[in-house]
Amino acid sequence: MTKIINCDNLDIAAKCLADGGTVAFPTETVYGLGADAMNELAIDKIYKAKGRPSDNPLIIHIAKKDDVNYLAKTVSRNASLLMDKFWPGPLTIIFPKKETVPFRVTGGLDTVAIRCPSDKVARELISKSGKFIAAPSANLSGSPSPTNANHVISDLDGRIDYIITSSDSEIGLESTVIDLTSDIPTILRPGAITLEMIKEVIPSAVYDISLTEPTDKPKCPGMKYKHYSPKAEVEVVCGNKDNIRKYILSRLETNINAGVLTYKGGDYDNAKCVLSAGNTMSEYASSLFYNLRVFDEYKVSVIYAEFIEEDGIGVAVRNRLYKSAGNKITRV
Ligand code: TXA
Ligand code: MG
Repeated sequence: MTKIINCDNLDIAAKCLADGGTVAFPTETVYGLGADAMNELAIDKIYKAKGRPSDNPLIIHIAKKDDVNYLAKTVSRNASLLMDKFWPGPLTIIFPKKETVPFRVTGGLDTVAIRCPSDKVARELISKSGKFIAAPSANLSGSPSPTNANHVISDLDGRIDYIITSSDSEIGLESTVIDLTSDIPTILRPGAITLEMIKEVIPSAVYDISLTEPTDKPKCPGMKYKHYSPKAEVEVVCGNKDNIRKYILSRLETNINAGVLTYKGGDYDNAKCVLSAGNTMSEYASSLFYNLRVFDEYKVSVIYAEFIEEDGIGVAVRNRLYKSAGNKITRV
């Protein structure tokens, strides 16, 4: 049975982690499903609870920056610069792994992904457990990442030991993942720490080609799976606001069971459900996964998502939205 506790009860959850159990906890990006990263049996519980393919590696979460030295074989100068600037925070760095890090947690890779979250509850929990905590997003594999405890409960109740309830995740999209193990520092997954921010520290950093051009082989193993998908089909409608509106209105004439995700306002009388993605890309980011789940509650069969290309965190929003749409993008 899963026990649902609040953040005043971290001792009991920390003990569960130390004993090889599974605990869902808040972070500033999305809720994570944690287990002792060095305990293979505990790691197996994560894969099983999520229904996650075992070749998809996990991020190891640490409470103190210096703990990186227990997990990474080497820490390059670029890595130190990024850690100084962005940790604790929503940036995951990929290092060469130490022999002691189990392949089970890295999906068989020689590299390990490490993140030091800024969320107070997350840090306290990790620190109290005395372990390094492997944690993917706390959703069933394939569904949108959870940005509040209710999402975790609806996906994982009965499948894990504890769920810690706390406030909604502030950012709402998963961390930026940067690979520092190849010659060119490469962003594998865009997030709230943007390429522009990273370039201020490492000017040579780039996006992985799979983020800018369609390819079947992204380097971040998790990015190849169908992801972030609500039950409804998603169609992203991209362009200028007037054209987007005209297109969606025409689609609504024939589809009576549709939802619309609006950006920067607007209403659609013919839609079954209209939700707002806010007026800025940060608002779009923090509400996206939440909104996708609400559309499912309304049981719409298709979601038309208004989208306007923007830099900064807009790159991460585009990445998650396009994936949730299985790349069904209409440009108008
Ligand atoms: O914000 C986040 O990163 C959240 C919270 C809970 O910290 N965690 C998260 O974990 O999003 P997950 O497992 O849902 O996504 C981790 C991504 C996957 O796409 C995985 O393939 C990639 O990171 N990854 C992990 N280790 C890797 C490695 N050694 N090399 C390349 N990609 C790696
Ligand atoms: Mg995930």
